[in-house]
Amino acid sequence: MSTNFSFSCFAGVPDDVATPAPSVKRAAQLAGSTIAGRNNQAAASVLGRKIMIVDDEESNILMLRKYLKEAGYKNIIHTDDSRLAVDLICGEHPDVLLLDVMMPNVTGLDILAEIMDLPAFERLPVLVLSASTEREIKQTALELGATDFLAKPIDRQDLLPRVRNALMAKSFRDQLARYAEHLEDEVVKRTADLEDSRREVVYCLARAGEFRDDCTGQHVARVGRYVGVLARQLNYRGAPIELLELAAQLHDVGKIGIPDSVLKKAGKLETEEFDLMKRHCEMGTKIMTPGASPEADVVRQNVAMGPSFLRECKSPLMTLAARIAATHHERWDGSGYPLGLSGESIPIEGRMTAVADVFDSLGSARPYKPAFPLTKCLRILEEGRGKHFDPKVLDAFFACLGEILRLSAELNNSMQ
Ligand SMILES: [Fe+2]
Repeated sequence: MSTNFSFSCFAGVPDDVATPAPSVKRAAQLAGSTIAGRNNQAAASVLGRKIMIVDDEESNILMLRKYLKEAGYKNIIHTDDSRLAVDLICGEHPDVLLLDVMMPNVTGLDILAEIMDLPAFERLPVLVLSASTEREIKQTALELGATDFLAKPIDRQDLLPRVRNALMAKSFRDQLARYAEHLEDEVVKRTADLEDSRREVVYCLARAGEFRDDCTGQHVARVGRYVGVLARQLNYRGAPIELLELAAQLHDVGKIGIPDSVLKKAGKLETEEFDLMKRHCEMGTKIMTPGASPEADVVRQNVAMGPSFLRECKSPLMTLAARIAATHHERWDGSGYPLGLSGESIPIEGRMTAVADVFDSLGSARPYKPAFPLTKCLRILEEGRGKHFDPKVLDAFFACLGEILRLSAELNNSMQ
C-alpha cells in the first residue's frame, strides 16, 4: 500500500487529458448507458460533482478513475491511505464516496462509522467496494448507512449507473435541503414581520384609547416600559416581560367609550360623570376579551391560577391586557374601582400598572391639571403607600427610579 498521499498529485490526474469533453447527451449516455430524454440533462448535470475514491490498491483506483473519466466525470479525488480518508472527506466534501472495506490500519467500516456520525455527511452517498463473499461486512455496512455495493472486481456497467444514481439522488436531496433552509428563513422573516405588525396594531389600539388626552401616544408607551422595569425588579414570572409591556400599553383602551364631555372636562367630575368614567375599565376588558366577564370572581379566579392563566387562553396578550384594564384602578386598601379588590387579591400586573400610570399621569398635563414637577409626583406616590399602592411595588419603583427617569426622558416626557 502506498501512503504517499497528496491530494494535489491525484486530483485531476492527467491520465486522460487528451480525451475530448463529451457532448451533454453523449456524456449522459456514457454516465448511465441507458439514460434517455429529459433524464439526459439531469444526468449530465452531475458530471461536475465531486467523486472520492478510498482504496489501498492503486490498481483499483486507476481503473475506477479511468471508467469515470471516460464517462465524463471531471472532479475525481482519491487516497490510498485510509488513515487520511476522514480528514480528506471533511476537507473536500465529496458528493459520492467509493469506499473500499478491507484496508490496513483503518478499515472502510471504521471510516463509514465515523463519517455517518457527522451531521455534515448525512446526505453523502457511500458506495462500498466489496467482494461478493463478504456477507457479514455488507450487513454491517448497510447498518452503518452505506448506500449501495459494488462487487469487486469492479465492472464498468455496474459502476456507472450506481455512481450516476447516487449523485442524482444526492443532488435532489441537496436541493430539498436548500429549499427547506430557504423555507425556514422565510418563516423566521415572516414571523418577525408578523410580530412587528402585532406590535403596531397593539400600539395603535393603545393610542386610540389615549388619543384625546395625548395624541402622541407617548403616555401609553411610557407606562408599558415602566411596567417592564417594575416587573424585572420584582422578578415577575407571570408572562414574558415583552408581552407584559405590550399588554400594559392597553390599560386605558376603554376610554374610547367615554364621551368627551367627561374625558376632557376641565373641572371636577360629578358623581354620575365619575361613575361613567369608571366604566373605562370594564369597556377595555370587553374590547380585548369579548364574551369574558370582568366580574370580581373571574379576576380572582385568574389570580388564584397564577401565571398558568395565560396558558389557558387563546390570546395570552389580550387576556393579560384585559386583566390589566380591569384592575389598574384598584387600590391596595380596597377603595379603588371597579371591583373593590384589595391587597394581593389585585393581580400584580394591575398593581404595577397602577404605579406606572399614576406616576406618568402626574407628570403629564391633563385637561383638569398641569404637569406636576418630579418632586411632587414622588411625594404623591409615597403618600399613597399602603393606601393606593402596594408597598412592595412602590419600593421597586423607587429602587429603579433612575432607569424610569431615563426612559421618561427618552420617551419625550420633560419631567423636572
Ligand atoms: Fe385608567
